[in-house]
Amino acid sequence: MGAPCRPVLARRGRSSLLWPPLLLLVTVGALLKPVRALQNVTSQLFGAEAFGTLAAFGDFNSDKQTDLFVLRGENELNIFLADQNEPYFKPKVKLLLRDVVITSVVPGDYDGDSQMDALLTTRPQEQPDADLSIWIFWGNNQTLGRLYRRKYSLSSSTKQLRISLFSGECERQMYLNSV
Ligand SMILES: *[C@@H]1O[C@H](CO)[C@@H](O)[C@H](O)[C@H]1NC(C)=O
Ligand SMILES: *[C@@H]1O[C@H](CO)[C@@H](O)[C@H](O)[C@H]1NC(C)=O
Repeated sequence: MGAPCRPVLARRGRSSLLWPPLLLLVTVGALLKPVRALQNVTSQLFGAEAFGTLAAFGDFNSDKQTDLFVLRGENELNIFLADQNEPYFKPKVKLLLRDVVITSVVPGDYDGDSQMDALLTTRPQEQPDADLSIWIFWGNNQTLGRLYRRKYSLSSSTKQLRISLFSGECERQMYLNSV
């Protein structure tokens, strides 16, 4: 009667010996998971173009994917359009302004034509205390129309600036507050 019990006991003994390696595997697995979650996807997203300062987000080409507005150097704006293939963001629109420093980028549809425009504020190079200027580049079928830019002065003492925008026969008022 005792003989059949021995293999059972022996099996139990063996399985309990398996516990430490099993525990170790579980622990290693738990440690590896968060490491796998933190992948560096920079080159998948930007390829060789991964430099510059991310200034704003917006769907520039109306494809329902968020595009990126990236500043490079002091006076260059690049719009990275989202793409289905790697790299997932490609610089497709480039705007280079002369003799100024771009201080902010505000994408938006300022004339109501359903195309995203880009409002930039700039100051002259090497004049950190100078008044800011405002430029609006009108979006036009995935490009920025240079011909339609207008320049306004936003003095540091001005609390609010009213800008009148004309598109066709319609006039829109835009108010900018300085902080
Ligand atoms: C991520 O990848 C980019 C491009 O390969 C590299 O420049 C960057 O140093 C990497 N960052 C980290 C934290 O490894
Ligand atoms: C917009 O640009 C695309 C590609 O450059 C062109 O195929 C399309 O015809 C243009 N659409 C209009 C309305 O100009």
